Amino acid sequence: MNLAESLRHPIFKVVGEIADSKKEKAFAIGGYVRDLLLNRDVKDIDIVVEGSGIELAKAAAKKLGVKKVTVYKNFGTAMFISEGYEIEFVGARKESYRSNSRKPIVEDGTIEDDQQRRDFTINALALSLNSSSFGELIDPFNGLQDLEGRIIRTPLDPDITYSDDPLRMMRAIRFASQLKFTIVPDSIDAIRNNADRLKIVSMERIEVELNKIMMTTRPSIGLKLLMRTGLLKEFFPELLKLKGVERRNGIAHKDNFYHTLEVIDNVAMESDNLWLRWAALMHDIAKPQTKRFMPGLGWTFHGHEDRGARMVPKIFKRLKLPLDQKMKYVQKLVLLHLRPIALTKEEITDSAIRRMLFDAGDDIDDLMILCRADITSKNESKVKRYLKNYDLVKQKLIEVEQKDSVRNFQPPVSGECIMETFGIPPSANVGKLKRLIKEAILEGEIRNDYDEAFDFMLLKGAELGLEKAN
Ligand code: CTP
Repeated sequence: MNLAESLRHPIFKVVGEIADSKKEKAFAIGGYVRDLLLNRDVKDIDIVVEGSGIELAKAAAKKLGVKKVTVYKNFGTAMFISEGYEIEFVGARKESYRSNSRKPIVEDGTIEDDQQRRDFTINALALSLNSSSFGELIDPFNGLQDLEGRIIRTPLDPDITYSDDPLRMMRAIRFASQLKFTIVPDSIDAIRNNADRLKIVSMERIEVELNKIMMTTRPSIGLKLLMRTGLLKEFFPELLKLKGVERRNGIAHKDNFYHTLEVIDNVAMESDNLWLRWAALMHDIAKPQTKRFMPGLGWTFHGHEDRGARMVPKIFKRLKLPLDQKMKYVQKLVLLHLRPIALTKEEITDSAIRRMLFDAGDDIDDLMILCRADITSKNESKVKRYLKNYDLVKQKLIEVEQKDSVRNFQPPVSGECIMETFGIPPSANVGKLKRLIKEAILEGEIRNDYDEAFDFMLLKGAELGLEKAN
């Protein structure tokens, strides 16, 4: 196979010419070649040369008029950016690994040495760049066949490939979910055998792969593989704890692990927001800790939303996820995830809707997506009933929003106004009056409007013994 036609970036010809003149062999390799053959968007180009990657990078940059070349001397690599592509250069190498580190001992090698030390056959495809063989596919490990068969396989014995660099176990599952490929059975077995080697991989690297899995169209595929191979328990035991069904007096509860996966897939159909997907992953995380069997009532998970929200920071910290607004957002959605449906247990009053809007603020639409995604019962009549209630809440939300804007509640009467009106300093009464005004608005006693709130403040101020200053 020859892909000369597809190698349009000027870098390929330039590298070929320089390599020809130095009598070296140069190749495009890895993800670039894979994605070219899969018709996927490519951003990075990896070049391998049987020689010095750094020298080749410098010479190529000069020819292309690129000023800035970043050299990583320790790794023997160099990179620059050209026409929006990150182009990385490395010398072909032979590597051996030590058992306690991901960092290999490196020696110069041939292209085939280099290909066999890569993670998967589909990532070990190379295209020759020298002029006599420009665009020719170099494929000693049948990567093309695996691409066509949609298969993830390692070039070497999988035990060696994964033990050399355990991050590859996460990558295997990430590629399987991203590309909808199948991991060959002996690779799955090898991941199982090497799962505990994930310990030598930094959480930052694990998290990058996990988030890529979370961003796939059906995150459940990757999450199930993580569970089945034993990788999940290495970094996210809380999620694994959701698995399983207990039965008492003939009553079983649902398997909360599989339920959670269904919820994430449902959310993924509606939204590309990674953090909303995280909220789905965590929404029932405290169910095992709150599970009770109540005779006559069956299984209950009372308070799991509150307990779950409190578990979020610890888990985010361990997984090296951001501890900022994104975490707060996930916490909030976990805490509120039952609210929309809980509303429908009684008559849906305007004030209950206003309170939910007030608590969710701008995240109300995401909360509704999560709530809708959470309806996964196998019982059709139950689903029908829940959906009807959900639609009702949705309708009510629109009505209430039109009447009062409490989504991002700003007090219509400020603390300064209260102090000025009654001629009082900052004090407990100011806070009390503000609270009373907010409550009155949420309860629907007054509208969210300055005049009504001002009159209400005068009334309540008088009850507290305050007098209007002149
Ligand atoms: N590679 C590897 N082992 C790793 C990481 C990378 O063998 N742990 C090799 C693979 O040949 C891979 C190439 O290095 O194709 C480039 O790696 P990277 O840029 O991380 O991934 P891509 O395969 O390009 O895919 P993506 O951009 O989707 O991450």
